[in-house]
Amino acid sequence: MIEKGKHFITCDGYTKDTFDLLMTDIFKSDIENPKKFEIGNKRKFVANLFYESSTRTNSSFYAAEKFLGFEVLNINGVVYSSVSKGETFEDTIRSIQTYADCIVLRHPETGAAKRASIISEVPIINAGDGIGEHPTQTVLDLYTIVKHFRKRKIEDLTITLVGDLKYGRTVHGLIKILHLYGCKINLVSPHQLKLPIELLRRDDNQFLNVTDEILKETDVLYLTRVQKERGAIISAGSYSLKEEHAKILNPNAIVMHPLPRMEELPTWFDNDPRAKYFEQMKNGLITRKYILKKILS
Ligand code: NCD
Repeated sequence: MIEKGKHFITCDGYTKDTFDLLMTDIFKSDIENPKKFEIGNKRKFVANLFYESSTRTNSSFYAAEKFLGFEVLNINGVVYSSVSKGETFEDTIRSIQTYADCIVLRHPETGAAKRASIISEVPIINAGDGIGEHPTQTVLDLYTIVKHFRKRKIEDLTITLVGDLKYGRTVHGLIKILHLYGCKINLVSPHQLKLPIELLRRDDNQFLNVTDEILKETDVLYLTRVQKERGAIISAGSYSLKEEHAKILNPNAIVMHPLPRMEELPTWFDNDPRAKYFEQMKNGLITRKYILKKILS
């Protein structure tokens, strides 16, 4: 799925075996050992074309690219490019591909990465397209889960996805993979922020609130913020993590969040051993090094 010279746009169209192989390959590549990564790519350019704000995705891609020895064109304020003069998206992609060997693209429009991949002669890596997907985040999320639960199978885990399941693209990618594994899935969201019907499976359990029963059986509690910039107009108050939830939550569970966090994930939880979102962030750098190396080697 992540191959030399190929686009990485979506988690669609793959099997459980593909993801098992991917995880095995990431662990086998000894990715966390910096000495294993030769700096032999000095002549390659990667363009990070970001039409939307980003902290972690942009900087982890940048850090991974520099670490691997690539030259980097970091265009993360398209207001300073010809886009502000009215240049079309297609013309921008056509131009950037002339200078770069790969384009990492973030765009507010769902399907933008696919559009770019149709015209681009260089690989496009989707770094988030509207409410579509964020496949490199999906890889880092899966890696975080597999790494933590080394002795258990993903299919035996209970995963609870909480928050803005309607507009949150990280959930949209992750749930596709979780469905392949067939693990137990709880979806907790206010009515207005339910998972789009086309992503829902019959076995998924939908709730409006976090209950004690859910907290006790959950192995992975994956929280997300309300995506106000995409049209969500509700507050996260109804599902934010509260002290009474933390007391009931399975002691062996992990709490994940793609970040940025808002009120749904209070800072008092940060020192709890079950908080894994900062580790998840570190895993973003690790897995993006793997993805870039694979596509550009
Ligand atoms: C996410 C995104 O951009 O989709 N952030 C990220 O890449 N880590 C989640 C979000 O913005 O809520």
